[in-house]
Amino acid sequence: MGKRSVLSLWIYRALAVLTLFFFGFIIGWFAKPTQTKTEHHTESSRFLKEFLDEMKAPNIRQHLRKFTRLPHLAGTEQNLKYATQIREEWRYFGLDSVDFVHYDVLLSYPNKTQPNYISIMDALGNEIFRTSLEEPVPDGYGNVSDIVPPYSAFSPKGTPEGELVYVNYGRTEDFYQLEKQMGINVTGKIVIVRYGKIFRGNKVKNAILAGAKGLIMFSDPADYCADGVQTYPDGWNLPGGGAQRGNVLNLNGAGDPLTPGYPAKEYTYRSKLEDGIGLPKIPVHPIGYHDAIHLLKNMGGEIPPNNWKGALNVSYRIGPGFINDYKNLTVRLNIHTNNQVTRIYNVIGKIRGAVEPDRYIILGGHRDAWVFGGIDPMSGNAVLHEIARSAGSMLSKGWRPRRTIVFASWDAEEFGLQGSTEWAEENAKLLQDRAVAYINADSAIEGMYTLRVDCTPSLHTLVYDITKQIDSPEVGEEGMSLYESWHKRDNWTNNRDAPRISKLGSGSDFEAYFIRLGIASGRARYTKNKKTERYSNYPVYHSVYETFEIVDRFYDPSFRRLEAVARVRGGLIFSLADSLLLPLNVNEYAEALDKYALSISQIAQRHPEEMQKYGVSFDPLFSAVENFTVAAGDFHERLQTVDKADSLQVRIVNDQLMYLERAFIDPLGLPGRPFYRHVIFAPSSHNKYAGESFPGIYDALFDIGNAADPEKSWDKVKRQISIAAFTVHAAAMTLTLPA
Ligand SMILES: *[C@@H]1O[C@H](CO)[C@@H](O)[C@H](O)[C@H]1NC(C)=O
Ligand SMILES: *[C@@H]1O[C@H](CO)[C@@H](O)[C@H](O)[C@H]1NC(C)=O
Ligand SMILES: *[C@@H]1O[C@H](CO)[C@@H](O)[C@H](O)[C@H]1NC(C)=O
Ligand SMILES: *[C@@H]1O[C@H](CO)[C@@H](O)[C@H](O)[C@H]1NC(C)=O
Ligand SMILES: *[C@@H]1O[C@H](CO)[C@@H](O)[C@H](O)[C@H]1NC(C)=O
Ligand SMILES: *[C@@H]1O[C@H](CO)[C@@H](O)[C@H](O)[C@H]1NC(C)=O
Ligand SMILES: *[C@@H]1O[C@H](CO)[C@@H](O)[C@H](O)[C@H]1NC(C)=O
Ligand SMILES: [Zn+2]
Repeated sequence: MGKRSVLSLWIYRALAVLTLFFFGFIIGWFAKPTQTKTEHHTESSRFLKEFLDEMKAPNIRQHLRKFTRLPHLAGTEQNLKYATQIREEWRYFGLDSVDFVHYDVLLSYPNKTQPNYISIMDALGNEIFRTSLEEPVPDGYGNVSDIVPPYSAFSPKGTPEGELVYVNYGRTEDFYQLEKQMGINVTGKIVIVRYGKIFRGNKVKNAILAGAKGLIMFSDPADYCADGVQTYPDGWNLPGGGAQRGNVLNLNGAGDPLTPGYPAKEYTYRSKLEDGIGLPKIPVHPIGYHDAIHLLKNMGGEIPPNNWKGALNVSYRIGPGFINDYKNLTVRLNIHTNNQVTRIYNVIGKIRGAVEPDRYIILGGHRDAWVFGGIDPMSGNAVLHEIARSAGSMLSKGWRPRRTIVFASWDAEEFGLQGSTEWAEENAKLLQDRAVAYINADSAIEGMYTLRVDCTPSLHTLVYDITKQIDSPEVGEEGMSLYESWHKRDNWTNNRDAPRISKLGSGSDFEAYFIRLGIASGRARYTKNKKTERYSNYPVYHSVYETFEIVDRFYDPSFRRLEAVARVRGGLIFSLADSLLLPLNVNEYAEALDKYALSISQIAQRHPEEMQKYGVSFDPLFSAVENFTVAAGDFHERLQTVDKADSLQVRIVNDQLMYLERAFIDPLGLPGRPFYRHVIFAPSSHNKYAGESFPGIYDALFDIGNAADPEKSWDKVKRQISIAAFTVHAAAMTLTLPA
């Protein structure tokens, strides 16, 4: 080797070192800033925008078309086929794992050879009228078999016969009015109520408590037809032959009626049917308004007040029984429905978190439908499918969320939230340690007006942030954000200038996650104009007319509303999974607690003498809320100064954020409702759909003015106030500096 070559070797080596150093420097230069919060934030935001833009209306339309061709009731072959298809497609989308998880739960089906119906009987026992056995099938579906006729799932078998009594919506206040003001005793009678206002299971419970031996529920045009709209297929109103299916359980969060508290696996002990949770003791059946006219038109008794009258051309007399020539007629239910332990399948898909794989963000919605499920639940499923597809597509572009995302296609929601509740039971220990948030993905549209969000207070800020990054789907609102459109249409004038967000009630799969396990939860969908549209649910709810076409032709022809909902749900999941600091706002919780404490105390203060006499005070609750407010404020401030490069510090505050919702759980549950354990929120005892704040105190105060033993009743109130005060203060402690 000559001098020259030695020199060139040295030059070569020096160059190589320099080059390596240079590349190292460059790599370091670009890599280093991603360690800091701001850079991470920018990167995450870029991916967020890309993720939101990935979700597309035409894809959602295609998914909806694909999964609404055939009826897919829980426990049927077709629902398993759709589950298989979803599993295969989620795998194809690129999720890390997708699996079935099955359970054997109690379901309920009509007898195919012995149909359910209601009849009017003459004095000799002849049937002189029968309600229809099925709904007229919509055009284009004439060759479809396996459409389950309208029925009340879990009704016991039976043929009770008696006089009819009309009790408006069958609410607590309606039965109260019937008994106390109208002086009518329904013991041994058949009660007929209209659907709407409250969950049907609460109507059944009220009828049973009142002593009825059978219950008929009908859809009145006043509650299931919008003004100026034609009936389906010419419009989106409920036709007279349509009726609302639905379960009539009072589970109070138990899931499978035979395995409360535990997953319904092969080895699980099952209670006897007569000990099943929430199963009604009287036969129940739903009908449409054409049939209802025949039952109502000849009723006798008093004419009720106007707010008991619907829109049918009948007098809405309350009975009991019929008038004049019809006096000897009775009404009979003929119910042959069977309860049956049946296998159901959840589909669970996962994207493993890159940094915190042991922190879970869950997006779950049910797949089972009463018939085609055009709106409920497949509009939500189509959205869920598009979110999963978009997340898969982001993975292929090199993105991976910080935390684990779980996608769930639940089964048997319509039979009492069973698929979601059983999975929550099976995974309770993991979830209470690791779950950050649950976002629900049931029906994504129930109206054509604006967004509707129900969520835990700590999610308010994130919901507003996300909706500001999404375009309004409305024609003529180009350039306007979803937030602005929503704000304009549903202004929450309640002491703040922002769009309305409501409390979570129940009636969908978030229940076990939020109210039993204490996981921050939320739901979002497109809805009607509450101020002008007075009907309940949406007109064709749970009927055979919930088709693909009703969405395609009326609810969302451009599919841009569903796209907007996909972006809201997807954006929430994305931010929760990918933000360095969890996007949960504790100050919002403090503000909500303050509002709820004030409003529950005002209910009690309608009875100042009793409060004085029995020594009832809300001061401990106010003190606890004050403590919470201070702790939340301090925590929020500390959050701004966390060293984002210190992963242990980040994890410490994130754990405090994650476990805050958990701190509101009372392991003993609410009185008589052991699976409703959230001290701040529970479904109302009088309407499962509605959320009640401080439900323990609320229930103790309910109708306390008429208490048989006031001292005992006020004692219960005192106990509940102390539980609430303890819980709120204890939750505040979880936000203080760990020392
Ligand atoms: C259905 O009804 C038929 C009578 O029509 C009866 O023979 C059969 O046992 C019933 N099925 C069940 C599962 O109860
Ligand atoms: C019903 O008929 C239509 C049109 O002929 C066809 O496309 C569809 O597959 C049929 N559905 C069933 C369930 O047979
Ligand atoms: C209603 O009638 C039943 C039986 O006829 C009776 O046992 C019950 O006490 C009555 N209820 C009221 C509130 O009067
Ligand atoms: C309402 O019913 C009455 C009695 O059945 C009938 O005479 C009248 O024509 C009906 N009105 C309408 C608007 O249908
Ligand atoms: C009702 O039944 C009673 C006894 O069965 C009979 O005497 C009466 O005539 C019947 N009334 C009518 C309106 O049919
Ligand atoms: C919402 O209501 C507040 C208070 O009434 C009002 O000041 C604000 O302008 C309203 N916002 C919108 C977007 O309508
Ligand atoms: C609120 O905090 C104060 C000061 O620590 C304490 O004395 C009080 O008991 C707390 N309130 C409740 C309801 O725990
Ligand atoms: Zn649903």
